[in-house]
Amino acid sequence: MEKFLSKRIVLVTGKGGVGRSSVTAALALASAQRGNRVLVSEIEEPCGGFSPLARLFGREHLPVKPIKLAPGIEGGQLTAAKGQEAFLTSVLKVRTMARLAMRTKPLLAFLRFAPSFHEMGIFFHLLTHIKSQTRDKRNRYDQILIDMPATGHTLALTALPQQLLELIQSGPIAAGMREGQEWLNNPKTGAAYVVTIPETLPVTECMELIDGLQQTNMPVGGVILNMVPENPFSTSEREELQGLLNGHSFFGQRYLDRIATTSRAAEKLRSEVHVGLLSVPYCKASGTELPKMMASRLLGESLRES
Ligand SMILES: Nc1ncnc2c1ncn2[C@@H]1O[C@H](COP(=O)(O)OP(=O)(O)OP(=O)(O)O)[C@@H](O)[C@H]1O
Ligand SMILES: [Mg+2]
Repeated sequence: MEKFLSKRIVLVTGKGGVGRSSVTAALALASAQRGNRVLVSEIEEPCGGFSPLARLFGREHLPVKPIKLAPGIEGGQLTAAKGQEAFLTSVLKVRTMARLAMRTKPLLAFLRFAPSFHEMGIFFHLLTHIKSQTRDKRNRYDQILIDMPATGHTLALTALPQQLLELIQSGPIAAGMREGQEWLNNPKTGAAYVVTIPETLPVTECMELIDGLQQTNMPVGGVILNMVPENPFSTSEREELQGLLNGHSFFGQRYLDRIATTSRAAEKLRSEVHVGLLSVPYCKASGTELPKMMASRLLGESLRES
């Protein structure tokens, strides 16, 4: 937790349904409780609809310009169009010109469909938040947490700076990509946290994603093992119990099996990936209460660590 709290930019990633959005909201609450000014973000959904991340803070959507979601927490969408506009403004120097350019249909069609321009826009929008300052010249956000989309999209974004820099070595695009790399690829400031659940296949997929992230030079801060079942037994109690239960079927067998699968999954992660492991228990809560409960468990774990 302490390591996580010190990162400026955190990408929360993992395969679908493992709890990325819930973990992002919980991490944001935990971080704000520890005094950070936090921005939570998600990448625009092309089809619109409600935002699962916003719902965890009691709203239906996140606007593009961040709004206050909770004490110490703002939330906003990252959009390609906003980043492209910010990029054009930095090149053309005049925002009105950039806004006019962003209304020209051929340019819009080009930006929408040319490969990598979408990711580039998102990247530039993120940079504007990283550099955003308050009137008294302090960073507006101590920490920016991004609820990343599914695995493939995450890697498309983390691979982008290097790929573009191989094609374009000078000029404003290259400068922006290098600036982004300085934040994201520096383990002091940037980290990806991979969320997974304690089951065999998701753990294997999590390890593949860690490999993919490392290949794109994205530092991996840790793995967050989510929905961990509570384990009321010590190892010796469990062994004793096993002796009594062997060969019988009993109420609660599946729960005990889940506990066993969880310790195997945690063991596999500890022995094969050399990154920190944070556990979040399965919480009997929903809506805005779920991330609050998860956050208090995360903070509890950090107290035990210290
Ligand atoms: N620690 C937890 N305890 C209990 N339920 C959880 C926990 N974490 C997540 N959930 C539940 O699991 C479901 C999936 O969570 P969430 O929407 O955060 O996952 P996701 O990875 O963001 O999914 P998607 O791939 O759809 O974006 C939700 O119903 C959520 O309430
Ligand atoms: Mg989600």
